[in-house]
Amino acid sequence: MKIGIIGAGHLGKALIAGLTQSGMKQEQIILNARSKETLEAQKQKYPGMEITTDKKELAAKADIIVLVVKAQNAGEVLAEIGETDLNGKTIISLMAGVTLDDMRKMLKNTGSEYRLARMMPTVGISICKGVIGVSWENGQTISEEVMDLFRPLGYLIPLPEEKLESITITAASGLAFTATLMKAYRDSCTRLTGDTAISEAITLRVFENVIETVRNGDTTFEQLIEQICTKGGTTEAGMRILENSDLNEILNQTLDTAYARVSGLKGK
Ligand SMILES: NC(=O)c1ccc[n+]([C@@H]2O[C@H](COP(=O)([O-])OP(=O)(O)OC[C@H]3O[C@@H](n4cnc5c(N)ncnc54)[C@H](OP(=O)(O)O)[C@@H]3O)[C@@H](O)[C@H]2O)c1
Repeated sequence: MKIGIIGAGHLGKALIAGLTQSGMKQEQIILNARSKETLEAQKQKYPGMEITTDKKELAAKADIIVLVVKAQNAGEVLAEIGETDLNGKTIISLMAGVTLDDMRKMLKNTGSEYRLARMMPTVGISICKGVIGVSWENGQTISEEVMDLFRPLGYLIPLPEEKLESITITAASGLAFTATLMKAYRDSCTRLTGDTAISEAITLRVFENVIETVRNGDTTFEQLIEQICTKGGTTEAGMRILENSDLNEILNQTLDTAYARVSGLKGK
């Protein structure tokens, strides 16, 4: 099984890192990007990997073609690979805002029988701890062999396509939103500790403790809050401020605005 990757930016690099970590041989990967510099930098890192400036060569050699370019480059890239024989191949887009329908139109390939899918991953796939939403065309399935390549990269969630962008926002953009929340917590801690490094270490440990406690199934977020908020105690006093704040409303607006933006990208 050979995988052809088009694009080696933030996400393309994360994908190569995850696939090679999860046991794929470098020789199974063929990479294309816009510039020779990008290709040569990746070749230095993964000497066994094949690189090419020719998308048609990539499309001819690969069983699975993965698109990791920006939505605005989708048309040119798909038109080019659409000129090759795509019979039996699976084409997977990791692009936000380009639908399966758009992809079929951009491929303009009427003669070949191929499968199309979309995956929406987080960069956590680079350490095999990503979240990956996956959708495919109605009436088609993705072979287990293909799914098995991506399963080790993280939490794979099959979803209808109309729900896929919810993963873009909650998980992919969610990393930046959560980093912003954690940064705000670190900065507030610094006002009390007077030391940014100590506050950063505390922030990481506090978030980690909450994650581990809830993930282990020992407790829910709600139960954890109740356990720590002793009646009339210090936590309860602080919690009153949080509970009376617009935190949920701010988060709703953040996610809704990002969602409207990604929905607006469709078809462009
Ligand atoms: N970053 C994320 O966390 C994330 C998460 C989920 C989905 N996505 C999606 O992943 C896609 C890529 O995002 P990114 O952040 O990795 O972007 P990026 O860092 O800007 O990388 C884009 C890559 O595409 C290559 N490229 C551009 N035009 C090309 C062409 N005509 N032929 C071949 N390669 C071409 C570029 O090549 P050069 O390096 O040679 O210029 C570059 O390697 C986007 O559609 C985005 O919606 C990203």
